[in-house]
Amino acid sequence: MNKTDKLLTAAAHARQQAYAPYSDFSVGAAVLGNNGKIYAGANVENISYPCGTCAEQSAIAAMIADGCREISEILIIAETKDPITPCGACLQRIKEFSGSQTIVHLANLTGIVKSLNFNEFLPLTFNNMEVKK
Ligand code: THU
Repeated sequence: MNKTDKLLTAAAHARQQAYAPYSDFSVGAAVLGNNGKIYAGANVENISYPCGTCAEQSAIAAMIADGCREISEILIIAETKDPITPCGACLQRIKEFSGSQTIVHLANLTGIVKSLNFNEFLPLTFNNMEVKK
């Protein structure tokens, strides 16, 4: 199995573990770090709705906790005809750990439908470190 197939398998498995009793919409994500390892995540909702977390967020957190700081590829999977795209907040989260070559795979239960360079999603993202001055 190649890395992209492993990414799909990991994200699909995580989606099945999603905790989404409020929206009834399960999402899985898997990140391939630049260390070659795969980190999966699922959405985790909460009865206090804003406390819920997205699948991408949990996958990225797992990568960070393992000491990896760069996303080579990220895959998002949901049960929709047209595959879902990451929400605005998750695009910013992906941006933090992406490079010029980072790929985003969009999948549904039939498999990967589309693969794009991350910059196609957020070409003009906030990235101004002058805020630190
Ligand atoms: N959700 C994700 O986990 N990732 C996305 O890219 C879009 C939305 C989750 C949040 C919420 O638990 C459910 O899907 C419905 O919005």
